[in-house]
Amino acid sequence: MSLAGRSLSTLCDLTSDELTSIIDLAARVKKAPKEFADALKQKTLAMIFQKPSLRTRVSFETGMTQMGGHAIYLAPTDISLGKRETTEDIAIVVSRYADLIMARVFGHDIIEEMAAHATVPVINGLSDYAHPCQMLADLQTVQERKGTLKGLKFVYSGDGNNVAHSIMFGGALMGMHVVIVTPPGYEPNEKALAKSREMAAKTGATVNVTNDLAAAAQGADVLYTDVWASMGQEDDAERRRQFFMPYQVNMGILQKAKADCVFLHCLPAHYDEEVTYDVSRTPNSAIFDQAENRMHAQKALMLKLAGAA
Ligand code: CP
Ligand code: NVA
Repeated sequence: MSLAGRSLSTLCDLTSDELTSIIDLAARVKKAPKEFADALKQKTLAMIFQKPSLRTRVSFETGMTQMGGHAIYLAPTDISLGKRETTEDIAIVVSRYADLIMARVFGHDIIEEMAAHATVPVINGLSDYAHPCQMLADLQTVQERKGTLKGLKFVYSGDGNNVAHSIMFGGALMGMHVVIVTPPGYEPNEKALAKSREMAAKTGATVNVTNDLAAAAQGADVLYTDVWASMGQEDDAERRRQFFMPYQVNMGILQKAKADCVFLHCLPAHYDEEVTYDVSRTPNSAIFDQAENRMHAQKALMLKLAGAA
């Protein structure tokens, strides 16, 4: 299944079969990395960052190195996206040098504008609206632990943010039963919810939103959380804490889930806020496999978009 030349702004850009083909390839890449050692030889990935990163930067860069290619890190201060130069001109110019572009931005419109003007694939490495590469790794991790995705109950507790939206889109495509639990007033974006339900209708998936974590956690196959204040919301972190504390994933919540429930967190984690440290170190926790899988899943994605697999 070819995805050559395509961009990935959100998982809504993919069909269920296309998403499955990326996750399957990610498993192959993880099992036999040497098979892909020269697959992106002489290829360059330009990585444009408006925000900080550990996993996204290191996993994309090492992924390119392992496949014989090269990655260039462009820090927020290097190109001052939208200030020193327009997004349109940056997309056109970078396309003349690089074979792939990955960008981590504030406004999702920047990713869309970049994809519209670039002549090479553009990968969303996180925007305020979506974090599709994260969900690729999350799905790979759940598949490894549970052996399947379809029909699983996937419960996310926290802010209705970029990560929540990608869980809704990916879960909808994979036929999962997604429950997004947030404090009142922090529910996911209406447009994202409508879109995910439209996708879910085709796969037998469901996407529900609630404010009741104790009820939602019952029988969960996957329990997931993320920071309460995302990058760019740091000034609001203190105020948010009081509303979000009842949504913490702790041992009491984990015990309501299935015994073999997989605990996930995209990281970075703020321990004893959105998750207690003890939950993160239980055998249920797959947070470090999940972080590792960012690299394998993104290698698979780059192979597909570059037309090398
Ligand atoms: N999960 C994730 O995207 O991590 P970074 O912000 O460190 O890249
Ligand atoms: N929601 C978080 C995810 C970090 C990987 C943020 O946008 O900061």
